[in-house]
Amino acid sequence: MLNGKTILITGGTGSFGHHFVDYVLAHYQPKKIIIYSRDEFKQFNMQNAYRQYSQPGGVLRFFIGDVRDKERLTRAMQGVDYVIHAAALKQVPACEYNPNEAIKTNINGAMNVIDACLDCGVQKVVALSTDKSVNPINLYGGTKLVSDKLFCAANSYSGGKGPIFSVVRYGNVAGSRGSVIPFFQDIIDQGGRELPITDFRMTRFWISLEQGVELVIKALEVSQGGETFISKIPSFKITDLAKAMSPDCNLKEVGIREGEKLHEIMITSEDSARTYEYDDSYIIYPHYDWWLDRMIVPGGKPVEAGFEYTSGNNKVFLTVEELQQKLKTDLDKH
Ligand SMILES: NC(=O)c1ccc[n+]([C@@H]2O[C@H](COP(=O)([O-])OP(=O)(O)OC[C@H]3O[C@@H](n4cnc5c(N)ncnc54)[C@H](OP(=O)(O)O)[C@@H]3O)[C@@H](O)[C@H]2O)c1
Repeated sequence: MLNGKTILITGGTGSFGHHFVDYVLAHYQPKKIIIYSRDEFKQFNMQNAYRQYSQPGGVLRFFIGDVRDKERLTRAMQGVDYVIHAAALKQVPACEYNPNEAIKTNINGAMNVIDACLDCGVQKVVALSTDKSVNPINLYGGTKLVSDKLFCAANSYSGGKGPIFSVVRYGNVAGSRGSVIPFFQDIIDQGGRELPITDFRMTRFWISLEQGVELVIKALEVSQGGETFISKIPSFKITDLAKAMSPDCNLKEVGIREGEKLHEIMITSEDSARTYEYDDSYIIYPHYDWWLDRMIVPGGKPVEAGFEYTSGNNKVFLTVEELQQKLKTDLDKH
């Protein structure tokens, strides 16, 4: 699928971008992978980390650019087959405090990426979404909801001639910056004997970056336009994670934070009428006049009316021992 293709990743110097590049270089022979982001220092570090691929004429190419700049995106996308849109402002408090900036990057940036893809003849586009865009309670989630809608609706503009736009949704990646695992680890490393838990009932999904990358590649392979792809993954209780990381620590309930949910939600009951279940994933199909049932990916079955997929109602929960194992193998190393 990716052999001989030119792929551009907005936000390619981020955690996802690094892992995507590792995965693609290990499994495919792409013609070019273009990293598109703003900070020259992050690009410099990435060029050094992938020195053998970053030489002149190498597979990895680096474009400084902002997703707020449509002209620059259009220049960068010349000759590009596939675009992965990963660039985002994604820290909840930063988006609350700087709402205009979150809107400019996450919404205006999404519109620019779509326009540039339409103008440059890109074949397929996958945008990264988050559980926070489902019934959003903070601005980050709100901007990502709008971004998801923009990408799904963009298929109407391409008029069946391409590009094909789709969305991949997952929750916090295990060990990602600002998430609960590094937070607990800092306390443990400083000799803390008590781990704060906002609410003892709280649950989360467990997803590794590898699984996120694989879902994006699946979306590139099978999307017909407007789908939202969601992995089937296990859940865990935050209290079990704390016990897995530090069996002897005390746990203290400190109260839910503003903008925080008890459970991660991936699929709402309102989505159930358009959701199909597959062996390893769910796909929410779009609700457009042009969408035809023959575009449904084979091998799935419709979920029951009212079905919801949340980290709280998941059938599979990791035990403390399983969490300890996953903490050794699954954490984001970038
Ligand atoms: N990490 C998670 O747990 C998680 C979970 C669910 C969904 N997601 C989604 O996955 C995507 C990637 O996340 P990540 O963890 O890889 O994020 P990350 O590590 O914070 O990386 C973000 C990337 O976006 C770039 N960027 C930010 N603003 C930009 C702009 N205006 N123009 C161009 N590039 C810009 C950053 O580079 P510069 O600063 O140099 O521009 C960086 O390369 C995001 O869309 C996020 O919403 C992430």
